[in-house]
Amino acid sequence: MSKKLFIETLGCAMNSRDSEHMIAQLREKEGYETTQNLEDADLILINTCSVRERPVHKLFSELGGFKKRKKPSAKIGVCGCTASHLGEEIIKRAPYVNFVLGARNVSKIGEVLHKDKAVEIDINYDESEFAFDDFRTSSYKAYINISIGCDKQCTYCIVPKTRGDEISIPDDLIINEAKRAVDNGAKEIFLLGQNVNNYGRRFSSSEHEKVNFTELLRRLSKIEGLERIRFTSPHPFHMDDEFIEEFAKNPKICKSMHMPLQSGSSKVLKEMKRGYTKEWFLNRVQKLRSVCPDVSISTDIIVAFPGESDEDFADTIDVMKQVKFDQIFSFKYSPRPETEAEHFTNVVDEDVASDRLAYLQSLHNELLDEINTKYLGETFRVYFENLNKDNFVSGRSDNNLVIKVKGSEELLGEFRDVKITSIGRTILTGEIVA
Ligand code: 5AD
Ligand code: SF4
Repeated sequence: MSKKLFIETLGCAMNSRDSEHMIAQLREKEGYETTQNLEDADLILINTCSVRERPVHKLFSELGGFKKRKKPSAKIGVCGCTASHLGEEIIKRAPYVNFVLGARNVSKIGEVLHKDKAVEIDINYDESEFAFDDFRTSSYKAYINISIGCDKQCTYCIVPKTRGDEISIPDDLIINEAKRAVDNGAKEIFLLGQNVNNYGRRFSSSEHEKVNFTELLRRLSKIEGLERIRFTSPHPFHMDDEFIEEFAKNPKICKSMHMPLQSGSSKVLKEMKRGYTKEWFLNRVQKLRSVCPDVSISTDIIVAFPGESDEDFADTIDVMKQVKFDQIFSFKYSPRPETEAEHFTNVVDEDVASDRLAYLQSLHNELLDEINTKYLGETFRVYFENLNKDNFVSGRSDNNLVIKVKGSEELLGEFRDVKITSIGRTILTGEIVA
């Protein structure tokens, strides 16, 4: 009988892909099958995120719960960004944890499994050319890493400390992985990196041809049978005209762009070391919309960064009103260890922070209602990927709207034209017209 693996994944898409990589290694090399049932598991992995503070507290209470519920012989491994940043501390605080594996050391899962109390968290470890075995949670959409680490120094962000310096994965490996995914039925690929449009800045081998992100997109779009390419996250600073124009004219690239604003105030952006101003951001949105009018734009915003005044916050609101983002991920600033901003003393009052977040989110909802109303009666080409409750099947339009229709699993992995019949904030409902 095969051994059972229970894995919980927190955080971003990159973490989801890391989990797939670990599952692949454990299946092929160690004979594990996944289970949804913690009590049955021989190995329990938690793939953690440390981008904000809350999930770190949650980790230890969750580990306590795992310990109570697990089989006596089951091992527990803590992986991912919190593993990188807390390291040995995790075993000190939770001595029943068997090993700790950092976000940059995923390929060592087979090794740490057999060494009790192993802590592998080297952020200089280079696994950019490691050949992982294949495993995908979805056969319709393939997540593919194009780089590891991050070279930026945003003053609020812990990621460069958990994932190390940025190294691009060679384009031939990416293209081969995409081809394999397409051969196995995926019509869409989703490229992942902390900073995708900085691709090509550094490869493991200095002899590697200088391929930039725009060129990588061109090469990938030649793969026959591949219909859609998405990616996250691009950095507004690196959105040059060449990239935006390729994005607009390449029919395989989905017309949905994530543009993490973080703040609309040029003063705060400078304190964050984001490398662009409010004007640059608005200029890039304008350029993008001028060549690609139907593009949907999503963003990340942090409110109450140290020193954020009412005027600074008003700048963020101004950008929101001008851009009318289709989707916003908004957060209260959370001081993180080993970051520059951790030492900033001009902290914003907690009540002010909460009020700003609430205001921003309600404004976004108002703007969204306005945006969504215009979709009623429109037709979108939808790629179906999920079977929902009550005989609904859902998927995404090219511009990333989540759309559901009545239907069954025959629709999964298929494209259909769908006319929108009713509007919700996060999901639209429609009927198939072709
Ligand atoms: N506090 C709050 N939000 C943060 N993010 C990153 N670091 C922090 C922090 N210290 C947000 C940013 C980023 C998203 C993934 O998480 O908006 O784009
Ligand atoms: Fe992803 Fe950042 Fe969280 Fe790490 S800290 S899992 S890179 S969101």
